[in-house]
Amino acid sequence: MGRLIALHYSVMLYAIFMKSIRISLTELVMPCLDVYRIREDFPLLSSGVLYFDNAATSLTPKQVVEAIADYLLNCRANIGRGVYPLAQRATEAYEEVRAKVAKFIGAESCEVSFVKNTTEAINIVSMGVEWSKEDNVVITGLEHHSNMLPWLRASRIYGFEVRVVKPKPDGSLSLDDFAKAVDKRTRLVALTHVSNVLGTISPVRKVARLAKDHGALVLVDAAQSAPHMPLNVEELGCDFLAFSAHKMCGPPGVGVLYVRRGVELRPMMVGGGVVADASLESFELVEKPQVFEAGTPPISGVVGLGAAIDYLSKIGLEDVWRHEVKLAEKLRRKLVEVEGVKVLGPEKPQTGITSFAVDGVSSDEVAMALGRMGVCVRSGFHCAIPLVRDVLGEEQGVVRASLYLYNTEEEVDSFMEILVEVLRLLRGA
Ligand SMILES: Cc1ncc(COP(=O)(O)O)c(C=O)c1O
Repeated sequence: MGRLIALHYSVMLYAIFMKSIRISLTELVMPCLDVYRIREDFPLLSSGVLYFDNAATSLTPKQVVEAIADYLLNCRANIGRGVYPLAQRATEAYEEVRAKVAKFIGAESCEVSFVKNTTEAINIVSMGVEWSKEDNVVITGLEHHSNMLPWLRASRIYGFEVRVVKPKPDGSLSLDDFAKAVDKRTRLVALTHVSNVLGTISPVRKVARLAKDHGALVLVDAAQSAPHMPLNVEELGCDFLAFSAHKMCGPPGVGVLYVRRGVELRPMMVGGGVVADASLESFELVEKPQVFEAGTPPISGVVGLGAAIDYLSKIGLEDVWRHEVKLAEKLRRKLVEVEGVKVLGPEKPQTGITSFAVDGVSSDEVAMALGRMGVCVRSGFHCAIPLVRDVLGEEQGVVRASLYLYNTEEEVDSFMEILVEVLRLLRGA
């Protein structure tokens, strides 16, 4: 344990040294992303923590906290209700973010609704389509529970069939399998853009084209793609898209539901803020996008999401993505060399997500031991039990290291040194 602590401190000192001279291999190889400059925006990183759990939630830059504080301290009023100037300023700030989100995903403002998170967005769609018993919904075996349970539950309520396209163990999906599953009764195809376990990118565009040929709707779970790569709903060809602010430098409690113009969808909740007219006997609702925002929305969260989008757009998501893949490639190269470690997913990483299993040691034990050394990774089934247990066959779960724009090559080196030492201790060698 003494050796481990010494190693941890030397790693921290090295990181501080590298930060002070502000030059690294990373910057020489990838001059586009000034990682050491970016790290200064995230105060939590100065504690020396190795934060590799970005697929669960990202850290927050100062700029986002400042934008939220500015709303709370200087512009605090409800939106869409008051007619006094403060309330109008708050409403304008909120609606500006809607326009910003629309631009971010290549949509129109009227197609963007603010919801609580990706999970809520998908639930809204699952409960909002006019289903018939004869319909079927096609999902994949890669899905997070949030893009699986809503369809299973709706199928129980409305009587439609759920069909599953199984991925290969490397996370790839075959278009032939989609072609077999989708038919004229398919009402909707729901798939993740990026797997939260394997980091693979699904062939969304091709699947959407196939679905459209059969008259089906397409929902894309963009929880793991919107924070990391440029997105465009027109290019993807989807009717619905969902993502969460907390995974993309924004605050928890706010997410986005994109609904293509012209697509019919019933709101899941009604109440204040969505009323065009009401009597004691009946009511008339407002149009999209506000119709999905019943009650007071998470205004400060929306403001924070706007600041997060500004932040990421200024840096450039193309560069963020390239940076993460480069780090994941390095991580994978090093992981496969460690005896008893099985690295999952494709040989060539497509995003910054890497999952692995260790012979004879559960994923929780590994993550707990790493946690004690200041390394944050997630273990277990990652809200994707059918994928991890049934497709990958990992009964003890898997360890997931997920990288983001502020992670560095040196952190990958440190992670590997600490992991090797932790495994040696856990195996009692
Ligand atoms: C692919 C995917 N979909 C959906 C979700 C659910 O996101 P949230 O918890 O923000 O609703 C996650 C969260 O990890 C995810 O990775």
